[in-house]
Amino acid sequence: MSKSDKKFGKSVLFFGMTSIVAVAAVAVTALLVNISERKKEGRNPYTRVVEVGEDDTDPAKWGQNWPRQYDSYKRTAISTRTRFGGHGGSEALPEEKIERDPWLKRMFLGYAFSIDYRDRRGHAYMLTDQAETKRQTKPQSGSCLHCHASLMPVYRKLGNGDALAGMNKTHSMSYQELSKIIHDMGHDHPVSCVDCHDPKTMQLRVTRPAFMVGIQKLAASDAPVPAIPSIDLWRQGNRKAPYDPNTDATHTEMRSFACGQCHVEYYCGKAMPLTFPWSNGLKMDDLEKHWDETNLPDGKRFFDYKHKESGAEILKAQHPEFELWNQGIHARNGVACADCHMPYMREGASKVSDHWVRSPLLNINRSCQTCHRSSEAEMMARVDSIQEKNFNLLQRGGAALMDLLDAVASAKKSGATPEQIKPALELQRKAQWRLDYIAAENSMGFHAPQEAARILAESIDYARQGQAAALKLNSRQCTVDSVQSTVYSRQCTVDSRQ
Ligand code: HEC
Ligand code: HEC
Ligand code: HEC
Ligand code: HEC
Ligand code: HEC
Repeated sequence: MSKSDKKFGKSVLFFGMTSIVAVAAVAVTALLVNISERKKEGRNPYTRVVEVGEDDTDPAKWGQNWPRQYDSYKRTAISTRTRFGGHGGSEALPEEKIERDPWLKRMFLGYAFSIDYRDRRGHAYMLTDQAETKRQTKPQSGSCLHCHASLMPVYRKLGNGDALAGMNKTHSMSYQELSKIIHDMGHDHPVSCVDCHDPKTMQLRVTRPAFMVGIQKLAASDAPVPAIPSIDLWRQGNRKAPYDPNTDATHTEMRSFACGQCHVEYYCGKAMPLTFPWSNGLKMDDLEKHWDETNLPDGKRFFDYKHKESGAEILKAQHPEFELWNQGIHARNGVACADCHMPYMREGASKVSDHWVRSPLLNINRSCQTCHRSSEAEMMARVDSIQEKNFNLLQRGGAALMDLLDAVASAKKSGATPEQIKPALELQRKAQWRLDYIAAENSMGFHAPQEAARILAESIDYARQGQAAALKLNSRQCTVDSVQSTVYSRQCTVDSRQ
């Protein structure tokens, strides 16, 4: 006491000055603490009324702790409609895509998609829609359930604790066999809280083994990944441990990775485990290269099915939302799937992520206008302009592919040999992969407009090249041509004899 008393006089001025600084510092610290606590509150404002763990796949249980997220999650059962998105009406099942666009049906001949292929709808339906599709009239693999059920506990059980090992057992099971195990273990729920959140911390995470394998192959490649900076960072390190999205990825990246567990191109059959084809990169061409380099167990080149009319070995594309988004301006600017499809909403003092995952066009105010200052009508018009152009190109692509198929059919009719037809069928494979890529992608071009247009332009070009190649083999065409062209007449010797 006495020591400080003596010093007091000398240091009063100094103390006076520092105290202002100190008080200010304390105030700033208090404010920061307050903000950070409020942020935490905003993120996790509930005291838990029940404990949840890794095996709790029933969202209702989690709903007791996080009722606001659960309430919005349940709304995915409500049907919605936009011009190109969602699913409207009150019919039991969404509209048939293959009836609306007959070229889709013909393009899928020889494959289960020509039997039944409908509009997607909300997450609440994913398990029942999969169980009920008439594509199930053909044998389907257990791999299907990776993206339609909350099945991680089942994978762990099948793999004695190792989820990847468990998944690798399921492609050789039938859909029905695995489905029964899932139901018997009580995990017959659509995508659930535990699939995207760590039950201890509620941190976002990815769980799906096929995503892990796919993203690790992507990281290990040297493909440019401008929209995933954490992979570049990992590449600069010692690479001893494989890239692990749950520890290496940024929070922003996780807000897209959570969706990339399912909204991707894949192989899902009995020949090999569920595969995301990312070993060469995430562009359409990289994926095509991956499949072209893949062999089936019999050693032959990979294909999903043989086209029933033409015999071409076809690659079927599946909803590559994650891959196409990666090529767009939003991804490059760090705008994540969740920014548009799960925007924040204010609920009292806290910010809650809207778990009613749906078309952002039903919600432009919260989905787009947080960043864009234009009016709602203007934002809608911009999207519509992109989608309309994409739609028209897509229809032209469909028409071009049908012309290719017609030309091949008549070439066959006029006696062209399989060897002669082969080049046209290779062009069909390329054209159809590109067309299907954009048809199966669910944003009608929005996620990366220029990339989508490029892919459709290539599709149309390949289809017309294939058509031209087949037409050269067509007898009627030949009789005309053979007068004019020695090249054609040589190709047409078979036909002109008729
Ligand atoms: C910048 C905003 C934005 C981002 C980021 C974004 N999307 Fe979209 N998405 C849209 C818009 C706009 C549509 C078109 C909706 C429509 O036609 O009604 C759409 C459509 C979709 C659809 C079809 C929706 C429906 O109602 O049929 C799916 C599925 C989808 N996106 C998934 C994703 C995934 C997965 C990601 C991330 C990999 C993503 N989106 C990133 C804006 C975005
Ligand atoms: C476990 C797999 C899985 C995950 C993870 C997943 N989805 Fe889906 N999503 C699906 C399936 C399957 C459907 C189609 C359901 C149906 O039609 O029955 C779907 C449908 C959708 C639709 C269409 C909704 C509508 O009303 O038409 C949108 C939009 C969508 N998902 C966006 C996302 C976004 C954004 C994320 C990440 C936050 C995400 N999904 C995560 C599997 C998944
Ligand atoms: C990699 C994840 C994944 C796998 C594996 C998967 N799906 Fe899906 N499925 C999705 C997503 C995402 C959607 C929603 C987007 C769409 O419909 O294009 C969807 C939509 C559907 C739909 C509703 C629309 C339609 O196509 O009629 C059905 C039915 C369906 N899947 C059945 C299956 C079957 C059968 C299998 C196995 C052959 C399967 N799915 C495998 C992710 C997957
Ligand atoms: C398809 C993935 C997905 C599923 C399934 C999912 N969430 Fe989320 N959840 C997210 C994303 C993305 C965020 C935003 C997180 C962030 O940016 O940190 C989020 C955020 C949250 C948060 C943090 C606060 C907030 O609202 O931002 C809570 C709590 C939460 N979710 C609870 C749940 C519950 C409860 C369920 C099941 C009923 C659930 N989530 C299902 C993806 C998912
Ligand atoms: C988190 C911020 C953010 C959100 C949310 C967002 N955007 Fe964007 N948007 C951007 C940025 C950044 C760009 C690129 C601007 C630039 O670099 O010039 C962009 C570009 C665009 C473009 C030009 C696209 C192109 O490919 O050339 C359109 C159109 C667009 N946004 C529409 C939308 C719509 C519609 C939504 C809601 C569904 C939306 N945005 C949501 C940030 C956002």
